[in-house]
Amino acid sequence: MTNWLIDELAYAGPEHLDPTFVAGFDRKQGADDIDDIAVLEGYGLGEDSVVVDLGAGTGRFALRAARVCRRVVAVDVSPAMLAYLGERADAEGVTVERAQAGFLSYEHQGEPADVVYSRHALHQLPDLFKTQALVRIAAMLKPGGILRLRDLILDVEPSEVPALAERWLAATATDPSVGYTAEDIAQHFREEYSTFSWLLEPMLERCGFEVLEASNPTGAFGAYTCRKR
Ligand SMILES: C[S@@+](CC[C@H](N)C(=O)[O-])C[C@H]1O[C@@H](n2cnc3c(N)ncnc32)[C@H](O)[C@@H]1O
Repeated sequence: MTNWLIDELAYAGPEHLDPTFVAGFDRKQGADDIDDIAVLEGYGLGEDSVVVDLGAGTGRFALRAARVCRRVVAVDVSPAMLAYLGERADAEGVTVERAQAGFLSYEHQGEPADVVYSRHALHQLPDLFKTQALVRIAAMLKPGGILRLRDLILDVEPSEVPALAERWLAATATDPSVGYTAEDIAQHFREEYSTFSWLLEPMLERCGFEVLEASNPTGAFGAYTCRKR
């Protein structure tokens, strides 16, 4: 059959495939002020849990999850990200399974997941394919399983986008090694696929999730905890 899906590697953001960018990724990302492990522990994450991290990057979440969970699978389309994650896992003495695959191609094997986690990766997909990713995520979760989704989500009205863009661009780093610059963010607007909260939330519902918690304090970074219905 003719393939109607996008080539996820071509949409992954070329920087994520570049070993030099990957080596500096954690420094550029900086500290994360949300503790997703603690949030998920509030929804039952623990030593029996099976966790899938989609778009796992350098393993900032997966390596921590592996210390408290039975099985963690880190999924990413980027071989460079997975190689880096593997080296960190070995250095830290933790076990994380790695799968080079994407939202649209990862085939989960074994027991269904208790938790699927994804941070700052789903915006690589246009909305049509976000829905397909969400349907696939629902299928890999146990009934009642939890999706923790964090992404660049616009929680504003369409008329407010220019003001949001201006605020965001003004609050960026000048040194690209320690943060995202104005040009990085402009490129995100131009070339990636942030979704409005008022589109994403019904998408989550239609793809089989109940939204339990939603927050977006800056209007640009959304965090959702959802339960598979
Ligand atoms: C901005 S990084 C975030 C990494 C990590 N989740 C974090 O928060 O530190 C985005 C990651 O998503 C990966 N990615 C991009 N498109 C993807 C896709 N279609 N499926 C899976 N991973 C993807 C990239 O290779 C990259 O590692």
